Amino acid sequence: MIGVIVALDKNYLIGKNNQIPWNVPEDLTLFKEKTTGNFIIMGRKTFESIGRPLPNRINIVISNTMENDFDFQELTFEELLNKIVIFHSIEEGISFCKNFSEKDIFIIGGAKIYQEVISKNIFDKLFISHIKGDFQGDTYFPKIDFKNYKNIFEKEYKDFIYREYTK
Ligand SMILES: NC(=O)c1ccc[n+]([C@@H]2O[C@H](COP(=O)([O-])OP(=O)(O)OC[C@H]3O[C@@H](n4cnc5c(N)ncnc54)[C@H](OP(=O)(O)O)[C@@H]3O)[C@@H](O)[C@H]2O)c1
Repeated sequence: MIGVIVALDKNYLIGKNNQIPWNVPEDLTLFKEKTTGNFIIMGRKTFESIGRPLPNRINIVISNTMENDFDFQELTFEELLNKIVIFHSIEEGISFCKNFSEKDIFIIGGAKIYQEVISKNIFDKLFISHIKGDFQGDTYFPKIDFKNYKNIFEKEYKDFIYREYTK
């Protein structure tokens, strides 16, 4: 399963000055629950914004300006946990993850990565936290119409509504 996971406000805002525009800890907990033990794929700027590999996940970073400093090809899933593995395209990253077929792949942003994955239609599910309200910022999720997707799960939290969609 390839999932796109994102938190956005009602205007599809996702970022401000290379950070998240809001502070919603419950959403971060949900993000951790969903992604732990799996692959996360992110753009170089999102990786820099997080500032470290996220624990108990394999961190795939897409970049043309970074290089791997170790040989990852022969390592097991467990050996790769907590590490960063760099690829020069999203397709190469996904193709590597698919060697471990039982694991899920989460596309975790940012805008540039979301844009490419949505426009090329290389995902199976959307995991969306619809943050209540509108915020100030500079980076947006592609303006897809969620009505075109099947809402298969919904849960309301204080600051957001969490929904899962399939095609
Ligand atoms: N609300 C949320 O759920 C959420 C989630 C994630 C991120 N964000 C926010 O989104 C913002 C960052 O988004 P962004 O669009 O500026 O940056 P980004 O997508 O995180 O990273 C862009 C960089 O990724 C690399 N890249 C992207 N596509 C590539 C491709 N096809 N081939 C090779 N490299 C590729 C390039 O790195 P190089 O320049 O190194 O080549 C590019 O400069 C931040 O504000 C962050 O906080 C929000």
